[in-house]
Amino acid sequence: MSLATLLLGSAYQGYSYAYPHKTAYRPLATPRTLADVWADEPRGALFLYVHVPFCAVRCGFCNLFATTTRDASEVEGYLAAIEHQAKTVSHDLSGARYARLAIGGGTPSYLTAAQIDRLFGVLAQQLGVDPCALPTSFELAPVNTDAARLAALRAHGVDRVSIGVQTFDDDESRALGRPRRRGEVAAAIALLREHGFATLNLDLIYGGAGQSLESWLASLESALRFEPEELYLYPLYVRRLTGLSHRDHRPDDGRLALYRAGRDLLLERGYRQLSMRMFRASHAPATVGPEYCCQRDGMVGLGPGARSYTTELHYSGEYAVGRTGVRAILDRYLRTEDHSLVDYGFALDPEERRRRFVIQGLLQAEGLDLAAYRTRFGNDAERDLSELHELVAHGLATAGADRITLTAAGLERSDVVGPWLASQRVRQLMEGYAWR
Ligand SMILES: C[S@@+](CC[C@H](N)C(=O)[O-])C[C@H]1O[C@@H](n2cnc3c(N)ncnc32)[C@H](O)[C@@H]1O
Ligand code: SF4
Repeated sequence: MSLATLLLGSAYQGYSYAYPHKTAYRPLATPRTLADVWADEPRGALFLYVHVPFCAVRCGFCNLFATTTRDASEVEGYLAAIEHQAKTVSHDLSGARYARLAIGGGTPSYLTAAQIDRLFGVLAQQLGVDPCALPTSFELAPVNTDAARLAALRAHGVDRVSIGVQTFDDDESRALGRPRRRGEVAAAIALLREHGFATLNLDLIYGGAGQSLESWLASLESALRFEPEELYLYPLYVRRLTGLSHRDHRPDDGRLALYRAGRDLLLERGYRQLSMRMFRASHAPATVGPEYCCQRDGMVGLGPGARSYTTELHYSGEYAVGRTGVRAILDRYLRTEDHSLVDYGFALDPEERRRRFVIQGLLQAEGLDLAAYRTRFGNDAERDLSELHELVAHGLATAGADRITLTAAGLERSDVVGPWLASQRVRQLMEGYAWR
C-alpha cells in the first residue's frame, strides 16, 4: 500500500519495537550451534537481557511472552534453567563482555528477594556480570513492589527501575483488564522513590475504554508528581489472543489526540522527547558505564522470551501470546538439556541490515545518522532506501546534511512509518505468522 493511502488510515498500524518483529522469525532451515553463530561477532560490549515470564495476573491488554503460575516451584525451576543456559553461553561465547544489563518480562519483580539474589548470583558466577559496574535496569509491577525486593535490587546495584502504571485511575485500569487494589500504584512508586534509584521510569497507556482527555491528563499529572526521570507513553493496541480482544474492546482513534495532549504537557514540563513513546526529564542522569551502541553491538538473551542479536542472525525461543502457547514454549525451555543449539530466528541479509539501521535511527527523535550509515554500509542511505525521499516529500521527515529526522507529523506517525519501511519479505512473514 502506498504511503499516501496509509496516511489516510489509523496512525496505529504496528509498533516497530525492534526490526524485524518476532512474528517474522521462523524455524531455521539448518539449526546452528551457538558457538558458530557468534564465531565472527565482536563480543566486547554486549547487551545482556534476562526475561522473567511470570506475572501475578495476565493483563487484558498484554501481548508479551508472559504467564501466571500457581506452582511456586516452577519459578525455582526457571532460575535453574536460566543458570543452565548461562553456563552454555559462558562456554560458547568465551571472552564475552557485557556493557548493559536489563531484566524484563513478564514481571521480574514476581521473583522474591531471595530469588533476585539467586539470579544476580548466577549472572555474576556464570557470565562475570557485575551490575554495579554496568547500567542495569529492572522491571516491576506495582502488585509485587515491596521493601525487601527493592533492598535486594539496590544491593545488587540496579540503577534503573521501570514500573507499569498504565493509568492512575482504578476504573480505567479495570477496563484495561488489570484490576488492582486502591492506592497500590502510588504506594509502589513512593517506595521506589524512597529507595533512591537513579532512574525511575513509569509506563502509561492511552486509549483505553472510559479514558477521556481530562482523565488522561490527570494520570500524567499524577505521574509527574513523582518527577520520574523517564516516561513511556504507550498507545493501546488490542492484539490477538489478549484478554481485551476476547472482550472485543477496540480503542477508538481518539489516541492521536491523547498522544498530542500528552506530548505537549511533557514538553511543557521540560521533558525531552526521544521517540514517539519515550520522554526523558532534564534531571535524568547521564548513562555512565562501558560504551554501548545498539546499532552495532550484539545482544544475548536468556530465557525463552528473550531475543539475541548478532549482525547476521536474530534468534530467540518461539513466540506465543495465548496461555496454551506460552505454556508449551516455557515447558519446552524448562526441559531443554542442550542450550547450545539455535533453531528459531531470522537471518538478516545486507538489505535487511540496512533497513534495520534506518528504521532504528529514524524512529528516534534525533534521527538517522547519515555518516554512521555511510561508514557502516559504504553508500548513502537515501540511495539505498528511496522511501526516505517519500517521507520528506510527505512532510514526515526533513533531510539535513548529517541526519534525516522525523518531523512532529512524522514522529506521531511512527507506527505507520515503521511498518511501511519493513521489507516485503518481513511483511509477508509477519502476515503469515500462525498466532498461538
Ligand atoms: C513488561 S511490561 C511492564 C512491567 C510489568 N510487567 C507491569 O506490567 O507492570 C511492559 C509495558 O508494555 C506496555 N504494553 C504492553 N502491552 C501493551 C499494549 N497492548 N498496548 C499498549 N501498551 C502495552 C505496558 O505499558 C507495560 O507496562
Ligand atoms: S502488562 Fe506486565 S504484569 Fe501485565 S501481563 Fe503483561 S507483563 Fe505481565
